Amino acid sequence: ISACLVGSEMCIRDRIYRSKYGIKRVFRREISMQLHGSGRINSQGHLEIGGVDTCSLVEKYGSPLFVYDEGLIRDQCRRFHKALSKSGLDYHISYASKAFICKELVRIMKEEDMGLDVVSVGELYNALSVDFDSQKIHLHGNNKTEYEIGYALEKNIGCFVVDSLAEVERIDSIGGQMGKRAKALLRVTPGVEAHTHEFITTGNTDSKFGLNIDNGQAREGVEAILRAENIDLIGLHFHIGSQIFGTEGSQAAIKKVFVWLKDLKEDLDFEAKILNIGGGFGIRYTDEDISYPIEDALEEIITCLKESARSQGLSIPQLWLEPGRSIVGEAGYTLYRVGTIKEIPGIRTYVSIDGGMSDHIRTALYGAKYEVALANRMNEKDASLVTIAGKCCESGDLIAKDVRIPEAKIGDILVVACTGAYHYSMASNYNLMQKPAVVFVRGGKDKIVIKRESLEDLIKNQV
Ligand code: LLP
Repeated sequence: ISACLVGSEMCIRDRIYRSKYGIKRVFRREISMQLHGSGRINSQGHLEIGGVDTCSLVEKYGSPLFVYDEGLIRDQCRRFHKALSKSGLDYHISYASKAFICKELVRIMKEEDMGLDVVSVGELYNALSVDFDSQKIHLHGNNKTEYEIGYALEKNIGCFVVDSLAEVERIDSIGGQMGKRAKALLRVTPGVEAHTHEFITTGNTDSKFGLNIDNGQAREGVEAILRAENIDLIGLHFHIGSQIFGTEGSQAAIKKVFVWLKDLKEDLDFEAKILNIGGGFGIRYTDEDISYPIEDALEEIITCLKESARSQGLSIPQLWLEPGRSIVGEAGYTLYRVGTIKEIPGIRTYVSIDGGMSDHIRTALYGAKYEVALANRMNEKDASLVTIAGKCCESGDLIAKDVRIPEAKIGDILVVACTGAYHYSMASNYNLMQKPAVVFVRGGKDKIVIKRESLEDLIKNQV
Protein backbone atom coordinates (compact mmCIF):
# COMPACT_ATOMS: atom_id res chain seq x y z
CA ILE A 1 0.00 0.00 0.00
CA SER A 2 1.08 3.54 -0.61
CA ALA A 3 3.77 5.38 1.25
CA CYS A 4 2.37 8.16 3.39
CA LEU A 5 4.90 10.93 3.45
CA VAL A 6 3.06 13.65 5.27
CA GLY A 7 0.70 14.00 8.22
CA SER A 8 -1.97 11.49 9.09
CA GLU A 9 -4.81 13.74 7.96
CA MET A 10 -3.43 13.66 4.44
CA CYS A 11 -3.11 9.88 4.61
CA ILE A 12 -6.72 9.43 5.63
CA ARG A 13 -7.81 11.82 2.89
CA ASP A 14 -5.68 9.85 0.48
CA ARG A 15 -7.30 6.54 1.41
CA ILE A 16 -10.80 7.98 1.18
CA TYR A 17 -9.91 9.38 -2.23
CA ARG A 18 -8.61 6.05 -3.47
CA SER A 19 -11.71 4.18 -2.43
CA LYS A 20 -14.06 6.92 -3.63
CA TYR A 21 -12.50 7.37 -7.04
CA GLY A 22 -11.51 3.77 -7.56
CA ILE A 23 -7.76 4.16 -7.98
CA LYS A 24 -6.59 0.61 -8.30
CA ARG A 25 -3.13 -0.68 -7.73
CA VAL A 26 -1.47 -3.71 -9.17
CA PHE A 27 -0.76 -5.61 -6.00
CA ARG A 28 0.94 -8.61 -7.52
CA ARG A 29 4.03 -6.64 -8.37
CA GLU A 30 6.65 -5.52 -5.90
CA ILE A 31 6.47 -1.87 -6.91
CA SER A 32 2.99 -1.16 -8.06
CA MET A 33 1.58 1.17 -10.68
CA GLN A 34 -1.57 3.15 -10.12
CA LEU A 35 -4.27 2.56 -12.66
CA HIS A 36 -6.50 5.58 -12.97
CA GLY A 37 -9.92 5.68 -14.60
CA SER A 38 -10.67 2.69 -16.80
CA GLY A 39 -7.13 1.26 -16.58
CA ARG A 40 -7.05 -2.48 -15.80
CA ILE A 41 -5.13 -5.65 -16.53
CA ASN A 42 -6.86 -7.95 -19.00
CA SER A 43 -6.89 -11.73 -19.14
CA GLN A 44 -3.71 -11.73 -21.22
CA GLY A 45 -1.90 -9.78 -18.55
CA HIS A 46 -1.83 -6.69 -20.76
CA LEU A 47 -2.65 -3.16 -19.75
CA GLU A 48 -6.09 -2.22 -21.00
CA ILE A 49 -7.40 1.35 -21.11
CA GLY A 50 -10.93 2.32 -22.09
CA GLY A 51 -11.61 -1.33 -22.81
CA VAL A 52 -8.80 -1.48 -25.38
CA ASP A 53 -5.65 -3.59 -25.10
CA THR A 54 -2.73 -1.15 -25.20
CA CYS A 55 -0.47 -3.76 -26.82
CA SER A 56 -2.87 -4.06 -29.73
CA LEU A 57 -2.80 -0.25 -30.04
CA VAL A 58 0.97 -0.36 -30.46
CA GLU A 59 0.56 -3.08 -33.10
CA LYS A 60 -1.99 -0.92 -34.91
CA TYR A 61 -0.45 2.56 -34.62
CA GLY A 62 3.20 1.95 -33.87
CA SER A 63 5.25 3.50 -31.08
CA PRO A 64 5.84 5.77 -29.29
CA LEU A 65 2.15 6.30 -28.79
CA PHE A 66 0.13 8.55 -26.51
CA VAL A 67 -3.11 6.95 -25.35
CA TYR A 68 -5.84 8.92 -23.56
CA ASP A 69 -8.68 7.52 -21.51
CA GLU A 70 -11.44 9.73 -22.91
CA GLY A 71 -13.90 8.66 -20.24
CA LEU A 72 -11.55 9.88 -17.53
CA ILE A 73 -11.12 13.27 -19.23
CA ARG A 74 -14.89 13.65 -19.33
CA ASP A 75 -15.24 12.48 -15.72
CA GLN A 76 -12.76 15.09 -14.56
CA CYS A 77 -14.70 17.87 -16.30
CA ARG A 78 -17.90 16.59 -14.69
CA ARG A 79 -16.34 16.50 -11.23
CA PHE A 80 -15.46 20.20 -11.55
CA HIS A 81 -18.96 21.04 -12.77
CA LYS A 82 -20.64 19.03 -10.05
CA ALA A 83 -18.58 20.55 -7.26
CA LEU A 84 -19.10 24.08 -8.54
CA SER A 85 -22.77 23.82 -9.39
CA LYS A 86 -23.64 22.62 -5.91
CA SER A 87 -21.98 25.73 -4.46
CA GLY A 88 -24.71 27.96 -5.86
CA LEU A 89 -22.08 30.34 -7.25
CA ASP A 90 -21.97 31.58 -10.80
CA TYR A 91 -18.93 29.90 -12.29
CA HIS A 92 -17.08 29.17 -15.49
CA ILE A 93 -14.45 26.49 -16.02
CA SER A 94 -11.93 26.94 -18.80
CA TYR A 95 -9.69 24.06 -19.68
CA ALA A 96 -6.07 25.28 -19.92
CA SER A 97 -5.15 24.26 -23.46
CA LYS A 98 -1.43 24.44 -22.76
CA ALA A 99 -1.64 21.08 -20.94
CA PHE A 100 -2.64 19.36 -24.20
CA ILE A 101 -4.78 20.45 -27.10
CA CYS A 102 -6.06 18.95 -30.33
CA LYS A 103 -9.26 19.23 -32.31
CA GLU A 104 -10.87 16.18 -30.73
CA LEU A 105 -10.16 17.48 -27.25
CA VAL A 106 -11.70 20.83 -28.18
CA ARG A 107 -14.83 18.95 -29.33
CA ILE A 108 -14.91 17.09 -26.01
CA MET A 109 -14.51 20.33 -24.05
CA LYS A 110 -17.44 21.76 -25.99
CA GLU A 111 -19.58 18.73 -25.16
CA GLU A 112 -18.56 18.95 -21.51
CA ASP A 113 -19.56 22.62 -21.36
CA MET A 114 -16.05 23.86 -20.68
CA GLY A 115 -14.49 27.13 -21.81
CA LEU A 116 -10.93 27.34 -23.07
CA ASP A 117 -7.92 29.21 -21.76
CA VAL A 118 -5.52 29.88 -24.63
CA VAL A 119 -2.13 31.49 -24.44
CA SER A 120 -1.20 32.07 -28.05
CA VAL A 121 -2.75 32.65 -31.44
CA GLY A 122 -1.86 29.02 -32.16
CA GLU A 123 -3.99 27.66 -29.33
CA LEU A 124 -6.75 30.08 -30.29
CA TYR A 125 -6.61 28.96 -33.91
CA ASN A 126 -6.77 25.31 -32.83
CA ALA A 127 -9.86 26.02 -30.71
CA LEU A 128 -11.62 27.89 -33.50
CA SER A 129 -10.73 25.25 -36.09
CA VAL A 130 -13.57 23.11 -34.77
CA ASP A 131 -16.05 25.90 -34.24
CA PHE A 132 -15.60 26.40 -30.53
CA ASP A 133 -17.67 29.35 -29.28
CA SER A 134 -15.15 32.20 -29.21
CA GLN A 135 -17.05 33.89 -26.38
CA LYS A 136 -16.03 30.98 -24.15
CA ILE A 137 -12.33 31.54 -24.82
CA HIS A 138 -9.98 33.86 -22.99
CA LEU A 139 -6.48 34.81 -24.07
CA HIS A 140 -3.49 34.83 -21.74
CA GLY A 141 0.10 35.83 -22.35
CA ASN A 142 2.74 38.15 -20.95
CA ASN A 143 3.63 39.43 -24.40
CA LYS A 144 0.61 39.28 -26.66
CA THR A 145 1.63 40.53 -30.06
CA GLU A 146 -0.35 43.08 -32.03
CA TYR A 147 -1.21 40.30 -34.43
CA GLU A 148 -2.55 38.13 -31.60
CA ILE A 149 -4.59 40.98 -30.15
CA GLY A 150 -6.03 41.88 -33.56
CA TYR A 151 -6.84 38.23 -34.33
CA ALA A 152 -8.52 37.73 -30.96
CA LEU A 153 -10.58 40.91 -31.35
CA GLU A 154 -11.62 39.94 -34.85
CA LYS A 155 -12.77 36.55 -33.57
CA ASN A 156 -14.68 38.17 -30.67
CA ILE A 157 -13.09 36.14 -27.89
CA GLY A 158 -14.74 36.28 -24.49
CA CYS A 159 -12.00 38.25 -22.80
CA PHE A 160 -8.31 39.08 -22.56
CA VAL A 161 -6.33 38.43 -19.41
CA VAL A 162 -4.33 41.64 -19.37
CA ASP A 163 -0.82 41.13 -18.10
CA SER A 164 0.92 44.53 -18.23
CA LEU A 165 0.43 48.26 -18.52
CA ALA A 166 1.85 48.23 -22.05
CA GLU A 167 -0.78 45.69 -23.04
CA VAL A 168 -3.60 47.95 -21.85
CA GLU A 169 -2.45 50.58 -24.34
CA ARG A 170 -1.96 48.00 -27.07
CA ILE A 171 -5.43 46.48 -26.74
CA ASP A 172 -7.05 49.89 -26.38
CA SER A 173 -5.42 51.25 -29.49
CA ILE A 174 -5.96 48.17 -31.68
CA GLY A 175 -9.57 47.96 -30.45
CA GLY A 176 -10.02 51.62 -31.37
CA GLN A 177 -8.66 51.06 -34.88
CA MET A 178 -10.89 48.02 -35.40
CA GLY A 179 -13.96 49.57 -33.81
CA LYS A 180 -14.07 46.74 -31.26
CA ARG A 181 -14.49 46.76 -27.48
CA ALA A 182 -12.50 44.25 -25.49
CA LYS A 183 -13.45 42.68 -22.19
CA ALA A 184 -10.58 42.17 -19.76
CA LEU A 185 -9.53 40.52 -16.56
CA LEU A 186 -6.41 42.00 -15.02
CA ARG A 187 -3.82 39.43 -13.96
CA VAL A 188 -2.45 40.28 -10.55
CA THR A 189 0.28 38.73 -8.43
CA PRO A 190 -1.01 38.52 -4.88
CA GLY A 191 2.35 37.75 -3.31
CA VAL A 192 1.62 34.07 -2.76
CA GLU A 193 3.50 31.25 -4.38
CA ALA A 194 2.49 27.62 -4.05
CA HIS A 195 4.62 24.56 -4.46
CA THR A 196 3.59 20.95 -4.50
CA HIS A 197 3.29 20.38 -0.78
CA GLU A 198 3.52 23.88 0.62
CA PHE A 199 2.88 27.48 -0.03
CA ILE A 200 4.90 30.53 0.76
CA THR A 201 4.06 34.17 0.91
CA THR A 202 6.65 36.14 -0.94
CA GLY A 203 7.17 39.65 -2.17
CA ASN A 204 6.76 38.02 -5.58
CA THR A 205 7.61 41.26 -7.35
CA ASP A 206 10.01 39.33 -9.57
CA SER A 207 7.56 37.67 -11.93
CA LYS A 208 7.12 38.04 -15.65
CA PHE A 209 3.38 37.48 -15.20
CA GLY A 210 0.81 39.94 -13.99
CA LEU A 211 0.99 43.11 -11.97
CA ASN A 212 1.90 43.18 -8.34
CA ILE A 213 -0.61 44.19 -5.70
CA ASP A 214 1.96 45.19 -3.06
CA ASN A 215 4.03 47.56 -5.17
CA GLY A 216 1.02 49.42 -6.54
CA GLN A 217 1.39 48.31 -10.16
CA ALA A 218 -1.79 46.25 -10.06
CA ARG A 219 -3.70 49.32 -9.01
CA GLU A 220 -2.12 51.30 -11.84
CA GLY A 221 -3.32 48.53 -14.13
CA VAL A 222 -6.89 48.81 -12.85
CA GLU A 223 -6.83 52.57 -13.27
CA ALA A 224 -5.39 52.33 -16.78
CA ILE A 225 -8.08 49.89 -17.90
CA LEU A 226 -10.84 51.95 -16.33
CA ARG A 227 -9.53 54.94 -18.31
CA ALA A 228 -9.20 53.01 -21.57
CA GLU A 229 -11.92 53.83 -24.07
CA ASN A 230 -12.12 50.42 -25.69
CA ILE A 231 -11.72 48.02 -22.77
CA ASP A 232 -14.18 46.93 -20.09
CA LEU A 233 -12.62 45.63 -16.91
CA ILE A 234 -14.80 42.73 -15.79
CA GLY A 235 -12.61 41.19 -13.13
CA LEU A 236 -9.29 39.92 -11.85
CA HIS A 237 -7.12 36.89 -12.40
CA PHE A 238 -4.36 35.19 -10.44
CA HIS A 239 -2.61 31.85 -10.73
CA ILE A 240 -0.31 30.93 -7.88
CA GLY A 241 1.29 27.77 -9.26
CA SER A 242 0.86 24.32 -10.67
CA GLN A 243 0.72 20.73 -9.32
CA ILE A 244 -0.48 21.99 -5.94
CA PHE A 245 -2.05 19.84 -3.24
CA GLY A 246 -4.03 21.73 -0.65
CA THR A 247 -5.64 25.14 -0.76
CA GLU A 248 -3.71 27.20 1.79
CA GLY A 249 -2.04 29.19 -0.97
CA SER A 250 -5.26 29.86 -2.88
CA GLN A 251 -7.03 30.86 0.31
CA ALA A 252 -4.25 33.28 1.27
CA ALA A 253 -4.39 34.81 -2.21
CA ILE A 254 -8.19 35.14 -2.16
CA LYS A 255 -8.14 36.86 1.23
CA LYS A 256 -5.48 39.26 0.09
CA VAL A 257 -7.29 40.09 -3.15
CA PHE A 258 -10.51 40.87 -1.29
CA VAL A 259 -8.80 43.25 1.12
CA TRP A 260 -7.40 45.01 -1.94
CA LEU A 261 -10.76 44.93 -3.76
CA LYS A 262 -12.33 46.76 -0.86
CA ASP A 263 -9.90 49.66 -1.41
CA LEU A 264 -10.65 49.62 -5.12
CA LYS A 265 -14.36 49.83 -4.40
CA GLU A 266 -13.92 52.74 -2.04
CA ASP A 267 -11.38 54.65 -4.11
CA LEU A 268 -12.32 53.86 -7.69
CA ASP A 269 -15.84 52.48 -7.38
CA PHE A 270 -14.60 49.32 -9.09
CA GLU A 271 -16.09 45.92 -8.25
CA ALA A 272 -14.87 42.70 -9.84
CA LYS A 273 -17.67 40.73 -11.45
CA ILE A 274 -15.30 37.83 -12.00
CA LEU A 275 -12.47 36.33 -10.00
CA ASN A 276 -10.40 33.84 -11.99
CA ILE A 277 -8.10 31.86 -9.70
CA GLY A 278 -6.28 29.93 -12.44
CA GLY A 279 -5.51 26.21 -12.37
CA GLY A 280 -2.90 24.21 -10.50
CA PHE A 281 -4.77 21.24 -8.97
CA GLY A 282 -2.25 18.47 -8.37
CA ILE A 283 -2.39 14.95 -9.79
CA ARG A 284 -0.90 11.65 -8.63
CA TYR A 285 2.15 10.91 -10.74
CA THR A 286 3.48 8.45 -8.16
CA ASP A 287 2.68 7.29 -4.68
CA GLU A 288 4.65 10.22 -3.33
CA ASP A 289 1.87 12.53 -4.48
CA ILE A 290 -0.80 12.60 -1.83
CA SER A 291 -4.33 12.90 -3.15
CA TYR A 292 -6.27 16.05 -2.59
CA PRO A 293 -9.66 15.60 -4.17
CA ILE A 294 -10.87 18.41 -6.38
CA GLU A 295 -14.17 18.34 -4.47
CA ASP A 296 -12.46 19.09 -1.16
CA ALA A 297 -10.23 21.75 -2.67
CA LEU A 298 -13.17 23.50 -4.31
CA GLU A 299 -15.27 23.39 -1.18
CA GLU A 300 -12.48 25.07 0.79
CA ILE A 301 -11.87 27.65 -1.90
CA ILE A 302 -15.57 28.47 -2.27
CA THR A 303 -16.04 28.83 1.49
CA CYS A 304 -13.05 31.16 1.60
CA LEU A 305 -14.37 33.18 -1.34
CA LYS A 306 -17.78 33.64 0.25
CA GLU A 307 -16.32 34.56 3.64
CA SER A 308 -13.79 36.96 2.17
CA ALA A 309 -16.46 38.78 0.17
CA ARG A 310 -18.74 38.96 3.21
CA SER A 311 -16.05 40.20 5.56
CA GLN A 312 -15.12 42.99 3.14
CA GLY A 313 -18.75 43.87 2.48
CA LEU A 314 -18.44 43.02 -1.22
CA SER A 315 -20.66 40.94 -3.43
CA ILE A 316 -19.48 37.47 -4.42
CA PRO A 317 -17.97 37.49 -7.90
CA GLN A 318 -18.32 34.74 -10.48
CA LEU A 319 -15.66 32.12 -9.85
CA TRP A 320 -13.59 31.16 -12.88
CA LEU A 321 -11.10 28.30 -12.97
CA GLU A 322 -8.49 27.19 -15.48
CA PRO A 323 -7.56 23.57 -14.73
CA GLY A 324 -5.23 21.88 -17.21
CA ARG A 325 -3.22 19.06 -15.67
CA SER A 326 -6.09 17.84 -13.48
CA ILE A 327 -8.32 17.38 -16.53
CA VAL A 328 -5.96 15.41 -18.78
CA GLY A 329 -2.89 14.40 -16.77
CA GLU A 330 -3.96 11.09 -15.26
CA ALA A 331 -5.87 10.13 -18.41
CA GLY A 332 -2.72 9.95 -20.54
CA TYR A 333 -0.20 7.13 -20.96
CA THR A 334 2.82 6.84 -23.24
CA LEU A 335 3.67 3.50 -24.80
CA TYR A 336 7.16 2.75 -26.09
CA ARG A 337 8.97 -0.27 -27.51
CA VAL A 338 11.98 -1.47 -25.57
CA GLY A 339 15.12 -1.57 -27.71
CA THR A 340 18.69 -1.72 -26.46
CA ILE A 341 19.27 -3.01 -22.95
CA LYS A 342 22.70 -2.15 -21.61
CA GLU A 343 23.97 -3.48 -18.32
CA ILE A 344 26.96 -1.70 -16.80
CA PRO A 345 28.10 -4.28 -14.22
CA GLY A 346 27.85 -3.02 -10.68
CA ILE A 347 26.47 0.33 -11.80
CA ARG A 348 23.11 0.22 -13.54
CA THR A 349 21.09 -1.23 -16.37
CA TYR A 350 19.79 1.13 -19.00
CA VAL A 351 16.63 0.06 -20.79
CA SER A 352 16.33 2.25 -23.86
CA ILE A 353 13.00 2.99 -25.51
CA ASP A 354 12.10 4.38 -28.93
CA GLY A 355 11.15 7.87 -27.71
CA GLY A 356 12.72 10.18 -25.20
CA MET A 357 12.96 13.79 -24.12
CA SER A 358 11.41 14.82 -27.43
CA ASP A 359 8.07 13.44 -26.18
CA HIS A 360 8.85 13.30 -22.44
CA ILE A 361 10.71 16.41 -21.29
CA ARG A 362 9.41 16.66 -17.73
CA THR A 363 11.95 14.27 -16.19
CA ALA A 364 14.92 16.02 -17.80
CA LEU A 365 13.48 19.45 -17.14
CA TYR A 366 12.02 19.16 -13.66
CA GLY A 367 13.33 15.84 -12.33
CA ALA A 368 9.70 14.69 -12.44
CA LYS A 369 9.05 11.10 -11.35
CA TYR A 370 6.84 8.59 -13.12
CA GLU A 371 5.57 5.07 -12.62
CA VAL A 372 6.42 2.67 -15.42
CA ALA A 373 5.51 -0.93 -16.23
CA LEU A 374 5.69 -3.40 -19.07
CA ALA A 375 2.26 -3.16 -20.67
CA ASN A 376 2.57 -6.65 -22.18
CA ARG A 377 3.59 -8.30 -18.87
CA MET A 378 1.60 -6.50 -16.20
CA ASN A 379 1.25 -9.52 -13.92
CA GLU A 380 4.92 -10.39 -13.78
CA LYS A 381 7.08 -9.72 -10.78
CA ASP A 382 9.29 -6.64 -10.83
CA ALA A 383 12.59 -8.45 -10.88
CA SER A 384 15.06 -5.81 -11.93
CA LEU A 385 16.09 -2.32 -10.98
CA VAL A 386 16.64 -0.30 -14.15
CA THR A 387 16.84 3.18 -15.55
CA ILE A 388 14.65 3.93 -18.55
CA ALA A 389 16.58 5.95 -21.11
CA GLY A 390 15.32 7.87 -24.11
CA LYS A 391 17.09 7.77 -27.47
CA CYS A 392 17.93 11.46 -27.76
CA CYS A 393 21.51 12.63 -27.87
CA GLU A 394 21.73 13.88 -24.30
CA SER A 395 22.84 11.97 -21.19
CA GLY A 396 20.03 13.56 -19.20
CA ASP A 397 17.45 12.05 -21.52
CA LEU A 398 15.98 9.72 -18.92
CA ILE A 399 12.34 8.80 -18.45
CA ALA A 400 12.59 7.18 -15.03
CA LYS A 401 15.60 6.50 -12.84
CA ASP A 402 16.04 3.39 -10.69
CA VAL A 403 12.64 1.84 -11.18
CA ARG A 404 11.60 -1.80 -10.86
CA ILE A 405 10.08 -3.64 -13.77
CA PRO A 406 10.07 -7.30 -14.82
CA GLU A 407 13.29 -8.40 -16.58
CA ALA A 408 12.90 -6.39 -19.81
CA LYS A 409 13.38 -7.91 -23.26
CA ILE A 410 13.78 -6.27 -26.63
CA GLY A 411 10.32 -5.69 -28.08
CA ASP A 412 8.53 -5.35 -24.73
CA ILE A 413 6.10 -2.46 -24.46
CA LEU A 414 6.98 0.01 -21.75
CA VAL A 415 4.17 2.15 -20.43
CA VAL A 416 4.64 5.42 -18.57
CA ALA A 417 1.58 6.53 -16.64
CA CYS A 418 0.25 10.05 -16.05
CA THR A 419 1.67 11.61 -19.20
CA GLY A 420 -1.50 13.35 -20.32
CA ALA A 421 -0.46 16.88 -19.36
CA TYR A 422 2.54 18.84 -20.63
CA HIS A 423 3.94 15.92 -22.60
CA TYR A 424 2.61 16.09 -26.14
CA SER A 425 2.19 19.86 -25.73
CA MET A 426 5.85 20.22 -24.76
CA ALA A 427 7.11 17.73 -27.34
CA SER A 428 9.84 18.86 -29.71
CA ASN A 429 11.59 17.67 -32.82
CA TYR A 430 14.98 17.53 -31.13
CA ASN A 431 17.23 15.17 -33.10
CA LEU A 432 14.47 15.40 -35.69
CA MET A 433 12.43 12.90 -33.75
CA GLN A 434 8.93 12.56 -35.13
CA LYS A 435 6.15 13.55 -32.75
CA PRO A 436 4.16 10.44 -31.77
CA ALA A 437 0.57 9.69 -32.69
CA VAL A 438 -2.19 10.28 -30.14
CA VAL A 439 -5.12 7.92 -29.71
CA PHE A 440 -8.26 8.33 -27.59
CA VAL A 441 -9.90 5.19 -26.21
CA ARG A 442 -13.35 4.72 -24.74
CA GLY A 443 -15.89 1.91 -24.46
CA GLY A 444 -13.68 -0.60 -26.25
CA LYS A 445 -13.07 1.68 -29.24
CA ASP A 446 -9.99 3.61 -30.29
CA LYS A 447 -9.76 6.75 -32.38
CA ILE A 448 -6.65 8.39 -33.76
CA VAL A 449 -6.76 12.11 -32.92
CA ILE A 450 -3.24 13.18 -33.95
CA LYS A 451 -1.30 11.30 -36.59
CA ARG A 452 2.34 10.44 -36.12
CA GLU A 453 4.57 12.98 -37.83
CA SER A 454 5.99 11.67 -41.06
CA LEU A 455 9.54 12.17 -42.27
CA GLU A 456 8.14 14.56 -44.85
CA ASP A 457 6.43 16.55 -42.05
CA LEU A 458 9.83 17.02 -40.44
CA ILE A 459 11.25 18.86 -43.43
CA LYS A 460 8.14 20.36 -44.99
CA ASN A 461 8.97 23.95 -44.01
CA GLN A 462 12.56 23.75 -45.12
CA VAL A 463 13.55 25.50 -48.32
N1 LLP B 1 -3.71 29.17 -15.73
C1 LLP B 1 -2.52 29.76 -15.86
C2 LLP B 1 -2.44 31.21 -15.91
C3 LLP B 1 -1.36 28.99 -15.95
O1 LLP B 1 -0.18 29.59 -16.06
C4 LLP B 1 -1.45 27.58 -15.91
C5 LLP B 1 -0.28 26.76 -16.04
C6 LLP B 1 -2.73 27.00 -15.78
C7 LLP B 1 -3.84 27.83 -15.69
C8 LLP B 1 -2.95 25.52 -15.76
O2 LLP B 1 -2.34 24.96 -14.65
P1 LLP B 1 -2.55 23.39 -14.33
O3 LLP B 1 -3.99 23.20 -13.89
O4 LLP B 1 -2.25 22.64 -15.56
O5 LLP B 1 -1.58 23.11 -13.24
N2 LLP B 1 5.10 22.72 -17.89
C9 LLP B 1 4.85 22.61 -16.48
C10 LLP B 1 3.57 23.28 -16.10
C11 LLP B 1 3.54 24.72 -16.47
C12 LLP B 1 2.25 25.34 -16.01
C13 LLP B 1 2.06 26.63 -16.66
N3 LLP B 1 0.85 27.27 -16.29
C14 LLP B 1 4.80 21.14 -16.10
O6 LLP B 1 4.98 20.30 -16.98
O7 LLP B 1 4.63 20.81 -14.94
